[in-house]
Amino acid sequence: MRIIGFVSLFAIFVIAMILAACGADTGIDMEALLSRPKEFVGSDNCKMCHLEHYDSWRMTQHSRMTEDAQKNRDVIIADFDEQHIRKELAKLGDALKVPADKIYVPAIEEILYTNGSQWKQNYIVKKNGILYVAPVQYNVDTHTWVGYNEDKWDEEPWLLKCGGCHATGVDLEKGTFVEAGVSCEACHGKGSHHAALPKTAVFEKRLTIINPAKLTMGVAVQVCGSCHNRGIATKVKDAAWPVGYAPGRSLEIYYRSTSFAAGDVKNVYANEFSKGHHQQYIDWSQSIHAQEGVTCTSCHYVHQLGMPPTRSQTRSSGSQQCFECHVLLNKAGAHAIHSFANCIGCHMPRIAKSAESGDIHSHVFKVLIPKDTIDNPVIPNSCTPCHKHKNDVLADLQEAAFPE
Ligand code: HEC
Ligand code: HEC
Ligand code: HEC
Ligand code: HEC
Ligand code: HEC
Ligand code: HEC
Ligand code: HEC
Ligand code: HEC
Repeated sequence: MRIIGFVSLFAIFVIAMILAACGADTGIDMEALLSRPKEFVGSDNCKMCHLEHYDSWRMTQHSRMTEDAQKNRDVIIADFDEQHIRKELAKLGDALKVPADKIYVPAIEEILYTNGSQWKQNYIVKKNGILYVAPVQYNVDTHTWVGYNEDKWDEEPWLLKCGGCHATGVDLEKGTFVEAGVSCEACHGKGSHHAALPKTAVFEKRLTIINPAKLTMGVAVQVCGSCHNRGIATKVKDAAWPVGYAPGRSLEIYYRSTSFAAGDVKNVYANEFSKGHHQQYIDWSQSIHAQEGVTCTSCHYVHQLGMPPTRSQTRSSGSQQCFECHVLLNKAGAHAIHSFANCIGCHMPRIAKSAESGDIHSHVFKVLIPKDTIDNPVIPNSCTPCHKHKNDVLADLQEAAFPE
């Protein structure tokens, strides 16, 4: 009897819950909710309903870009031994703008956040209440220490020069950010309306959040282009990221990309291929892929749902990615000479620099042939990285592969 009583009470409770969940009476005043300005709520909030997306995002580098070193010192991948660091820096000699024994090397306790872990790591410290990038950088592949902006590191605030691409919900006026790293709302927009709506209000839910897959191609790819880009903000002086931009908006209003034509010889080659890193959008925009609607997410996943883990989050690994679409290939010219299928080696040569020159791939997808370098020696080509050891003369290589 008692059990039946409990069961029926429980049943009533469940039915009441379902009714509530069906929207009969959600107890939420939707109008009031939607009339408030949208705010950032943070990924912990999204996690409650999208656990799989959260977990898979946690598997990607986006979530690990900026880490809180005060909460967890293990995010520092280098050994912070000041003597060793100064010894390494001294090897750089005149390349340093401040002598190795004078450069500020933070004590490990002073490091508030780390930036990066794949190619290099920077360290964020506070000076006079403002966050700056400390002037020593650790390069992962070579296990070396190099200087970073050593002469003017405390003139360029981290939030202004880096913040919006490495943290989510940056507020320059208040000097704050909502979440370290590239979080859900960096790509989906402010989520306070969406998150507060009841689960059952499916259509309202969809209308209150940005799903890049439902945007037009040009606007969708700009979500990635808001960070995988280099240039200057149009709305806030001296900011290096598109302040004011939100996913779903047109990026060009907030940002002007850099180019060789505009005088940026440091980050772009004379043929407008990228020399600097985080410029994939600039490269890609010049490609036939851009014209044909093959975008970042055609080749990369951002949620690793149902995907095997791959280097650089490509949907298939390495050059296999190209075969997803290019099944019929002409077997003439350069394609005829090579017995292998290293598409990336020729069409995405590593000519850009993150930590060390040549660690990052070109995204123009156009092959740079020996003639490009012969005509202008400062322009690299796709062939030398493999053919240098044979001491191949560029002109011979050009003639053998592309006979006049
Ligand atoms: C209370 C639960 C809940 C929370 C919290 C929540 N969502 Fe959702 N979300 C949903 C539901 C339900 C849908 C609709 C599913 C469907 O389309 O069938 C949805 C849909 C989405 C979509 C797809 C929209 C579309 O039009 O296809 C995205 C993107 C999304 N959520 C992102 C987020 C982000 C980012 C956050 C955190 C800021 C978040 N969600 C927080 C429940 C939630
Ligand atoms: C780097 C950008 C980026 C980040 C960060 C990101 N998303 Fe997405 N999300 C996308 C894109 C792009 C799509 C469109 C589908 C696709 O291409 O995978 C998407 C789709 C979705 C969808 C719709 C269902 C689906 O899989 O298509 C949901 C829900 C979602 N994301 C939730 C989240 C949540 C929750 C987080 C944080 C834990 C998050 N996203 C972080 C870019 C991002
Ligand atoms: C808010 C800035 C931001 C946005 C928006 C953004 N990214 Fe990123 N992305 C980054 C940063 C920063 C890294 C480097 C993370 C690291 O190395 O820790 C990165 C890394 C990557 C990587 C390399 C991952 C690896 O394992 O090497 C890929 C691929 C990528 N992003 C694709 C995308 C795509 C596709 C989109 C759009 C759907 C996108 N990103 C949107 C900032 C962003
Ligand atoms: C316009 C956006 C943008 C700005 C501004 C920006 N970055 Fe980045 N950064 C990225 C993206 C995107 C990546 C990953 C893709 C790449 O490196 O090609 C990245 C990569 C990095 C990495 C390497 C991550 C790794 O895992 O190896 C470090 C370190 C870094 N940035 C530090 C900084 C610092 C310090 C600043 C400010 C002085 C800054 N970035 C300014 C977008 C930006
Ligand atoms: C046609 C396919 C394709 C498209 C389109 C594409 N990528 Fe890539 N991307 C790749 C491949 C392949 C790699 C190298 C994978 C590897 O390391 O094996 C790569 C590497 C990267 C990396 C890691 C750094 C590097 O260059 O080694 C980042 C970051 C990245 N892509 C971002 C983007 C962004 C942002 C877009 C859109 C503007 C984009 N990609 C468009 C195929 C593509
Ligand atoms: C999602 C499909 C897709 C993927 C993946 C893809 N491509 Fe493409 N690619 C296209 C389309 C569509 C075109 C334009 C039509 C054509 O020329 O086949 C194109 C064009 C090209 C062109 C220019 C052809 C010309 O006419 O000059 C090159 C080069 C190229 N792709 C190389 C690559 C390489 C290298 C990869 C792998 C990193 C790759 N593509 C991955 C779809 C794709
Ligand atoms: C030895 C260098 C080399 C390799 C390896 C290579 N390509 Fe090419 N590819 C070229 C050259 C050179 C061209 C001429 C057009 C250009 O400059 O982009 C070309 C042209 C193309 C084109 C456009 C012409 C056409 O109709 O086929 C596509 C698409 C393409 N390659 C895809 C691929 C794919 C996919 C792979 C991997 C299976 C690959 N390539 C491997 C050098 C190479
Ligand atoms: C990923 C490495 C790689 C790249 C990139 C590459 N090659 Fe090769 N190349 C080879 C290898 C290995 C061979 C030997 C034949 C084979 O195994 O296919 C070869 C053979 C050749 C040959 C035949 C004669 C000889 O020296 O053995 C020519 C000519 C040639 N390559 C030209 C080029 C040109 C031009 C480019 C740039 C557009 C290029 N290669 C890019 C690796 C590469």
